[in-house]
Amino acid sequence: MTPSNEEPGLRLPYGAAIRGVGAFVPPKVMTNRDLERLVDTTDEWIVSRTGIRERRILEEGKATSDMAIPAAWQALDRAGISPETIGLVIVATITGDYVFPSTACIVQNRMGMKNAAAFDLGAACSGFIYALSTASQFVMTGAYEHVLVIGADTNSRLVDWTDRGTCVIFGDGASAVLLSRSEPGTGILSSFLRADGSGLKHLHQPGGGSLHPPTIDTVSAGLHHIKMEGQETFKFAARAMAEACDQAIRGARISFEDVSLMIPHQANIRIIHAAAKRMGIPEDKLVVNIDRYGNTVAASIGLALNEALEGGRISTNDHLLLVGFGAGLTWGGMIIKWSL
Ligand code: ACO
Repeated sequence: MTPSNEEPGLRLPYGAAIRGVGAFVPPKVMTNRDLERLVDTTDEWIVSRTGIRERRILEEGKATSDMAIPAAWQALDRAGISPETIGLVIVATITGDYVFPSTACIVQNRMGMKNAAAFDLGAACSGFIYALSTASQFVMTGAYEHVLVIGADTNSRLVDWTDRGTCVIFGDGASAVLLSRSEPGTGILSSFLRADGSGLKHLHQPGGGSLHPPTIDTVSAGLHHIKMEGQETFKFAARAMAEACDQAIRGARISFEDVSLMIPHQANIRIIHAAAKRMGIPEDKLVVNIDRYGNTVAASIGLALNEALEGGRISTNDHLLLVGFGAGLTWGGMIIKWSL
């Protein structure tokens, strides 16, 4: 459990609350019917095994920062905060514009956040929770008053469009939140983060790093594509979701009945429903948009949060349960007491 004001004996000077949320998805829609023309699959298989009907694909010539920036502007505009007041920007991504520098530095420059530090955070599908939790530590200790957290991934660039086991799952998108200093006991009440690096082989991109730098051979062998053992990831996800939800709820000293809305990482509708059922969370307290966006990796939880907010599903003092899991392996959960 990362430090929070709910822990006995630990009194951080501030709370950390979300003041603005934003999202961006590229306009191009790829349906399951479109995929039927690329690989040996069917709309029926994809919908029944994953819950996905369509996903968004970023146009050629654009990069992850081109989605991150409109999402971030929306979050700042809704919060009424100018870029100069941001102390830190964190971009959770596994598909940055470049290997280096960080996409956060590109966002910092293009948005005029001239007083901000900036870094990327790589925790794959857990990236949004990892980044929000990291940001909250800086806000709760008083280091920064406003931290911008962005989750953004252009997964279509990593996908092997001949591998039906992965190409049907992923989509592109970005989401952003402005996290600001608040009264202790408001905003993020708890956050739980975990990792198990022994699960690397279940979900990874073998090529492009220092082990297998890009060469004609590594690219010919397709090492730059996402490799996933679907069933192993599925089994891990069920365990990880349960632990993350349980620990986040304990950390916030609330019970499952107190959860107003569960906002899970959108990886597979069967994983989401199984987790909610196990925890006794009814479907009307579940935010699901996987049918329209697929798995957008670090963007996913923020996209769902934004949709719930725009749909009028979140009220002041609601307890939101955010939960995610992904490559690493990594997983995490948090409880937010909504304060807008
Ligand atoms: N269309 C048709 N058939 C398919 C497709 C497809 N798109 N994909 C796989 N199949 C076939 C397989 O080849 C296999 O056929 P076979 O029995 O003849 O060998 C059969 O369907 C069953 O394959 P499984 O892999 O067992 O299918 P499963 O029901 O497990 O569904 C899926 C696969 C959707 C990938 C599922 O395992 C899953 O969602 N896993 C979790 C993925 C996940 O959550 N990733 C998260 C993190 S991503 C990140 O962090 C970057």
